[in-house]
Amino acid sequence: MLRDATPKTIRLAEYTPPTFTIERVALTFDLDVERTEVEAELLISRVPGTQGPLVLNGDADAEGSGQLLSLTIDGVVPAQTAWSLGGEALTLHAPPDRFTLTTRRRLSPSKNKAFEGLYASGSGLFTQCEAEGFRRITWFLDRPDVMSIYTVTLRADPARFPVLLSNGNPVSQTDEVHEGKPRRVAVWHDPHKKPCYLFAVVAADLKARHDTFTTQSGQHVDLNVWVRPQDLDQTAHCMDSLKKSMRWDETRFGREYDLKVFNLVAVSDFNMGAMENKGLNIFNTKFVLARPDTATDVDFAGIEGVVGHEYFHNWSGNRVTCRDWFQLSLKEGFTVFRDQEFSADVGSRAVKRIEEVRRLRSLQFPEDGGPTAHPVRPDSYVEISNFYTVTIYEKGAEVVRMGLTLLGPEVFRKGTDLYFARHDGQAVTTDDFVACLAEVSGRDFSQFKRWYTQAGTPTVSSSSEWDAAKGTLTLTLSQKVPATPGQPEKLPMLVPVTTALLGPSGARLPLVVDGVQRGDEVVLELTQATQRFVFSGLTQRPVPSILRGFSAPVLLETDDDEAALLFRLAHDDDAFNRVEAGQELFLRHLLASVAQVQVNEAPLAPSKALLDATQTALSSALTPTADPALLALALSVPGLDVLGDRLPWADYSSAFLAREHLIAALAQALTPLLEQVDAHLSKSLDGKPYRFAPDDVGRRSLRNLLVAWRARLDDGEAVVLEHLGRAGSMTDTQAALALLCSSTSPARDQALSTFYATWKAEALMMDKWFALQATSTRPQALDDVMALVKHEAFTLENPNRARSLVAALAMSNPLRFHEASGRGYVFLADQVRAIDAFNPQIAARFLTPLTRWKRQDPPRQAVMKRELQRILDREGCSKDVYELVTKSLA
Ligand code: BES
Ligand code: ZN
Repeated sequence: MLRDATPKTIRLAEYTPPTFTIERVALTFDLDVERTEVEAELLISRVPGTQGPLVLNGDADAEGSGQLLSLTIDGVVPAQTAWSLGGEALTLHAPPDRFTLTTRRRLSPSKNKAFEGLYASGSGLFTQCEAEGFRRITWFLDRPDVMSIYTVTLRADPARFPVLLSNGNPVSQTDEVHEGKPRRVAVWHDPHKKPCYLFAVVAADLKARHDTFTTQSGQHVDLNVWVRPQDLDQTAHCMDSLKKSMRWDETRFGREYDLKVFNLVAVSDFNMGAMENKGLNIFNTKFVLARPDTATDVDFAGIEGVVGHEYFHNWSGNRVTCRDWFQLSLKEGFTVFRDQEFSADVGSRAVKRIEEVRRLRSLQFPEDGGPTAHPVRPDSYVEISNFYTVTIYEKGAEVVRMGLTLLGPEVFRKGTDLYFARHDGQAVTTDDFVACLAEVSGRDFSQFKRWYTQAGTPTVSSSSEWDAAKGTLTLTLSQKVPATPGQPEKLPMLVPVTTALLGPSGARLPLVVDGVQRGDEVVLELTQATQRFVFSGLTQRPVPSILRGFSAPVLLETDDDEAALLFRLAHDDDAFNRVEAGQELFLRHLLASVAQVQVNEAPLAPSKALLDATQTALSSALTPTADPALLALALSVPGLDVLGDRLPWADYSSAFLAREHLIAALAQALTPLLEQVDAHLSKSLDGKPYRFAPDDVGRRSLRNLLVAWRARLDDGEAVVLEHLGRAGSMTDTQAALALLCSSTSPARDQALSTFYATWKAEALMMDKWFALQATSTRPQALDDVMALVKHEAFTLENPNRARSLVAALAMSNPLRFHEASGRGYVFLADQVRAIDAFNPQIAARFLTPLTRWKRQDPPRQAVMKRELQRILDREGCSKDVYELVTKSLA
């Protein structure tokens, strides 16, 4: 190995409280792209009863800049022996009990391509401090349990940086002349204590969409969405989402905003989606900018959800923050849960739930079953940036949701009220959160807490036994939690299993469970390895509908036969389970078909039952009570990722053949009906202005699904071109282009060059242009991607652009990424090695697909492991990449 030292593992068990607090922070920035000076004046006091030196974190940035210019203690230069400066720390050996430390430091933002700390993007300057970026700005106790009051002074050339923003409320802004140069000086003060990861600064030439909001207690808030001047016409939806979020948090959680201004800034170089800095949220442009002709329904929904998410952090994360980074899910899992509920309340709850579960299964379940599996509250990490995972976020949200399921909405709300009241202004743990749920409900949550400490996705199996003589149905539920790295032995979880019994017409039957009347839907609590629940008072064998609404993040195995699935697809009144039944029918067919393909037989034709069920479902789109969005979800043939997860190894090329064959067969068998439903949906869409509203979104998604089916017919290209021609929004345009992109027809190149010519000045549109090509299933897609890396519009340095091509191939095009030659793996490794030299966080994220090598066949495994090793062997390999590669090769 080429590194000097093995990176250190940080352990939860070794947590110790801070020995110093930093009460007040005064920061002064002299801002410039090449050279910025930062002065930090910190009022520090020793925690009574503690001993030892003060060790402040401080990292040099990638270029080794950030040198110390001066240091004083209470205004006096201390003796050389009183302090020492290492690579990552400034140590004061015997500081006074209470004193002011003043340091000055120089930074070079333009050289910072890791986009952590202070960096330049376009012509502006921005910061990103979570998780440990503040130490790249100044020396500090860079840990979330040190909370301080900040005053920030920003000085810059007003011609280049007219807008100067920081956290909290504006205090003053003046224009002065310093040494013959014009300087704008802005002062900001944040009255709320905060950890340094929530600090932010923006200095740029931006314009704002302005609006106002009056909180439920009558406080007036100025709202600003800051973007480049030419992007102002793409900010209406963002502002609308912000105001909706603010109102929703008041009504649903009783949470009110707490500053005079709320600033939201868009930046085009950003590692993540967005960041919840106090009073100054900074967003990836992707989650701000939208117009019907530039953004799809998915983009609109993404903006609404992310704006909500960052806004909701103001309470779940900022007012109540994390004690240490092991508690990350305290804020992220809870806030994802909150943004999910927000989107469900303002959109379609059932659709939202199905989408959430698809995401959980396709991303989190593989993580939980792979080499980087970790609990929602991890025990150790090497690089905290690697722990912003789908497990912390999505599984963490599921755990909070189970709390709601177990307690019911009223008691759960009492729990969150107690949590916010009790811990306001504190840095706390997931145990503190659970303690509030336990206290308001009077329940024992000790077994529940295993969801935080045990990794791995439990498998729950269910079987039912009908006793006609007694009129009872006995439901046997058992659970198994798999071994995961470092956790060979597991204890049973508390699994809430929401259950109903469906009668012959599909209606829910009254429930008597183990002799007790329980209404017509019950949350069964599975707490042991195996448990029996006896439903009595029944006259006919019912069809059980279990794990309704996906009441726990588990893999469910039922004894449903085809008849039960068909029945539930037609009748289950739980939308989640109804759609689920349809998906399971498709999956069973596809798995049988893949088995045929693997022995060189022709893929299977769909059965009469499957065709009939599809036809019945589709015909219902023509009825007045139809829900097109749910139909689109029910009829979407499971993707290659889902199929791959159900196969002994992820044989995507066989899965692809089986899937294409099924869709073509459905399209052929149902052609007239597909045209009829298309015409029906088009009546409400064509010629009407675009609306981002659940009914229209649903209509577009069903119509696009049907176009995709018809694209597999002999005249498929004509269908797609006609759709492109009538497209009234980017949703339809992108759907049509995606279909064309998978073909080799000349129309494809024509459409792509038209798109390029129209949109080459818009970065987010160019991201779409690259992603369309990277996700094409056509045979030469990999060659296309390799050529596109050299395209003049491509750069690895911009995270969005790199994602649009490299990550899009590796994460959203399993068929072509896993080409048998292994060229996809070599390509990805080359890109990861290049990126790791300047942006370790992005490099580490991008290499994830290679860590899943166990899911491939032996020849592919060999290449994947070899490429992982080659990534690790790069001289200067980052600790981010080191952690993931070593864990996946272990
Ligand atoms: N706090 C995070 C942003 C963040 C993550 C900063 C990791 C630094 C390192 C923010 O609240 C967040 O979670 N953003 C998500 C989007 C959200 C809707 C789940 C993101 O950026 O992906
Ligand atoms: Zn978050």
